[in-house]
Amino acid sequence: MTSQSFDLIVIGGGPGGYVAAIRAAQRGLNVACVDKNPVLGGTCLRVGCIPSKAMLESSEHFAKAKAGLERHGVKLSGVELDLAAMLARKEQVVSINTKGIDALFKKNKIERFEGLGRFVQPGVVDVEGPTGKTTLAAPKIIIATGSNIAPLKGVERDGDRIGTSTEGLAFAEVPQHLVVIGAGYIGMELGSVWLRLGSKVTVFEYLDRILPGIDAEVASEAHKLFKKQGFDFQLSRKVTAAKRAGDGCVVECADAEPIHCDRVLLAVGRRPNTDGLGLETIGVQLDDKGRIPVNEHFETSASGVYAIGDVIRGPMLAHKAEEEGVACADLITTGYGHVNYDAIPAVVYTHPEIAAVGQTEEQLVAANIPYRKGRFAFRANGRARTLDEVDGFVKILAHAETDRVLGIHILGARAGDLIAEGAAAMEFGATAEDIARTSHAHPTLSEAIKEAALAVSNQAIHA
Ligand code: NAI
Repeated sequence: MTSQSFDLIVIGGGPGGYVAAIRAAQRGLNVACVDKNPVLGGTCLRVGCIPSKAMLESSEHFAKAKAGLERHGVKLSGVELDLAAMLARKEQVVSINTKGIDALFKKNKIERFEGLGRFVQPGVVDVEGPTGKTTLAAPKIIIATGSNIAPLKGVERDGDRIGTSTEGLAFAEVPQHLVVIGAGYIGMELGSVWLRLGSKVTVFEYLDRILPGIDAEVASEAHKLFKKQGFDFQLSRKVTAAKRAGDGCVVECADAEPIHCDRVLLAVGRRPNTDGLGLETIGVQLDDKGRIPVNEHFETSASGVYAIGDVIRGPMLAHKAEEEGVACADLITTGYGHVNYDAIPAVVYTHPEIAAVGQTEEQLVAANIPYRKGRFAFRANGRARTLDEVDGFVKILAHAETDRVLGIHILGARAGDLIAEGAAAMEFGATAEDIARTSHAHPTLSEAIKEAALAVSNQAIHA
């Protein structure tokens, strides 16, 4: 068997894999990256984060143009939706981003192989691609194969009317009635897109609240705002079936009448991509959630084989995978590398946005950690007023004895950008007083973070 040899093979070209490949190449390794898709970038760039944010932005412009600018003294009439143009812009954004990865690979001399990578023996990976089979060999291999949409029993996906986020990013016409299954990240983001574009959106959620994992006070306030926007929430409802019925679909759930709609979006979580990798040949066994077990150095039970991103434990977030990609490549090349899992932010790109870093209030209560809480509403922030974006608040949780920041939660306009300060503060082990004593430019939304930090010791100025 002839094979091409490298120092490192990375299986998967998403945010975890491509970043690991680049960092390893920067550190002098000869790197191959295998991806089954002809376009690099993984779910995030192709059918996840990037296209969804493009659609969220465009749909928000449309909603604002239809209603929302009068208060600024801007009167518009005859506003029309050109969905084809909106979808084309989204595709263009995706294409520019994914081509950027191609350029970075060329710059860093990373060799790219298209096809499904499969372990055939320790240190050897077969790539089954459109032009046949190629065999690659390397002493180090990183698995970064990501995740895909979790199925739900009874939901008959047809890749069209009953689909996932992939279909939900590309409906050719605005559904009259869209049923979303799952009030998590995907359900709330893509539900927002189609609600703004004119759909009736019903969200079925198994739990009695939306956005599990997000601080309950934040999620509860967001729930009220989303209801005002027109979302129809059906909480504590377990969907048991969704199938085609005539031109549309029918969704069934326990203890409720079936609902007829024209499209269904399934968004009940994601599961790791490990099928067909040949893990059994290298003796790697999955944990009870189908993930690849790794130690703190991202090493699997097979010597020289590492795993990062959505296939291992932790939140399925692109930036978490990127951090792991860098740390894993650093560990392989230098022996040092670390990810601080306590300071990984999370963002839901609804309107307003939701962003968080660190622990929720519920987690602190459950862990019996004494804390103080500072809360500041955007309503009292000058910049928020000028933007006409007064909904939401910043909440800072700090240790009751040390004042060290344990969690920052933001519901408000541009929360996703604002949370960077919170992540940096937590990375540096800041106290609430540290944030409160830091000058924040005026007038900015970030002043609400300073005020929330002041509020931890009851010293907010504008509250
Ligand atoms: P999710 O885990 O965020 O939410 C799934 C929701 O479905 C939960 O609320 C769950 O209780 C509900 N559910 C489960 N079974 C159900 C049933 N039978 N009937 C009704 N509801 C049911 O998962 P989602 O939204 O699919 O997203 C997957 C992952 O993708 C997220 O956890 C996140 O890691 C990532 N993601 C991140 C984004 C971001 O960073 N902005 C955007 C989109 C996805």
